[in-house]
Amino acid sequence: MICFNQFKDRSKTRLQKSAPTLKSQSKFNVSESERATSSCSATPPRRITEIYEEKAQNLRVFTFAELKQATNNFNRLLKIGEGGFGCVYKGTINPPEGKAGDPMIVAIKKLSKDGCQGHKQWVAEVQILGVVDHPNLVKLIGYCAVDAERGIQRLLVFEYMPKKSLDEHIFNRAGSTLSWERRLQIILGAAEGLAYLHEELEIQVIYRDFKSSNILLDGEFKAKLSDFGLAREGPTAGHTHVSTAVVGTYGYAAPDYIETGHLTSKSDVWSFGVVVYEMLTGRRSLERELPKPEQKLLEWVKQNPADSRRFSMIIDPRLENDYPLSAARKVAKLADSCLVRSGKERPKMSKVVEALKDIIAEAAACVESPPVKYLEDAEDSPAPAEQMAPSIKRRFTHLAKISENLDGVNTRRFMMMQRAKVT
Ligand SMILES: Nc1ncnc2c1ncn2[C@@H]1O[C@H](COP(=O)(O)OP(=O)(O)OP(=O)(O)O)[C@@H](O)[C@H]1O
Ligand SMILES: [Mg+2]
Repeated sequence: MICFNQFKDRSKTRLQKSAPTLKSQSKFNVSESERATSSCSATPPRRITEIYEEKAQNLRVFTFAELKQATNNFNRLLKIGEGGFGCVYKGTINPPEGKAGDPMIVAIKKLSKDGCQGHKQWVAEVQILGVVDHPNLVKLIGYCAVDAERGIQRLLVFEYMPKKSLDEHIFNRAGSTLSWERRLQIILGAAEGLAYLHEELEIQVIYRDFKSSNILLDGEFKAKLSDFGLAREGPTAGHTHVSTAVVGTYGYAAPDYIETGHLTSKSDVWSFGVVVYEMLTGRRSLERELPKPEQKLLEWVKQNPADSRRFSMIIDPRLENDYPLSAARKVAKLADSCLVRSGKERPKMSKVVEALKDIIAEAAACVESPPVKYLEDAEDSPAPAEQMAPSIKRRFTHLAKISENLDGVNTRRFMMMQRAKVT
């Protein structure tokens, strides 16, 4: 996916000679005109740099030698990914000197000399991850910044996410498929991470690069947002937006932001809607290999809206129809509300979280909405048990049990009733 980062003056950025205090270089240093001035408030709201200084001691400062050792000299065999920032390696770090504890597996991001992202983003990432603390945001353990004779080195050390990123699961046809339930949990976790950034911090943070490759998954497939290089402080009281250069990733950025450069938290809400459709369909927001009418995901899904009979055609075939249709429709409608043209009309992320929780709770509380595959089988007679996928078989048995209790109503009729409810 192409980034359209516009840090043309990267070469002009003056680099520090030692581990950074991260004070004067922040992209969070927005101009005064962008910020609210509060004449009546005795204590003006704090800036991210101030909050960072208070919490900076929580981050560990690594030497380059330590990280070289941790990755066996940045061994290619330990490389686990590569993005605009540079390469990502799996490594093992020892506890800080003088402290007891086991070695820890980490992910180490090394800023590449010719990466399209730069030092400025590295600083932003350290600052923002240095002050946030939420189960759905990746944990930054520490950093390394050295300006040696043989060049500068900028590295970030993160908690290691064994299941890598969401995109590798939903777009990689070769790997195992994420179940419907897991997809919903992941999208809920990502929504909670965004809601925290937008609504629960002392300052508002706009993430600006919400996309499936930036949603990492831990061992239990819990979602954690990563990559805060483009994040920036939101508008302060009395201001509706922050004016910025347009940066982000094509296919995910909100049209109003691209057109005006006016950034608000609702720009992230749009990107969230895009990722929800990626998760529903198993397709990337832009897929150049597909026939023209299907290349742009949002245009394609519009042809098969949530209320239409054709809707199930867009759902990821890798789910093998093992998902509840009514819940899928609700999720798509929620995504549609995030994808309205006017930013103001899009819901706040806390509302999105609430709605997702309701959809998940409803699905868990009743068998109101059987999987699509099951409904199709009901058209004729139920498929023989040996032809059913195990999860479908489980739900079939469950439904059959319920239907046994319906006096004089056979399984087929029960299934038809269920169908009437969901269409
Ligand atoms: N903490 C981590 N634990 C495990 N794997 C990681 C971690 N951070 C990144 N990765 C892996 O490295 C890959 C590259 O990540 P990176 O964020 O550098 O690039 P990207 O998201 O693919 O692209 P972009 O530069 O546009 O953000 C990820 O897709 C993921 O597979
Ligand atoms: Mg990334």
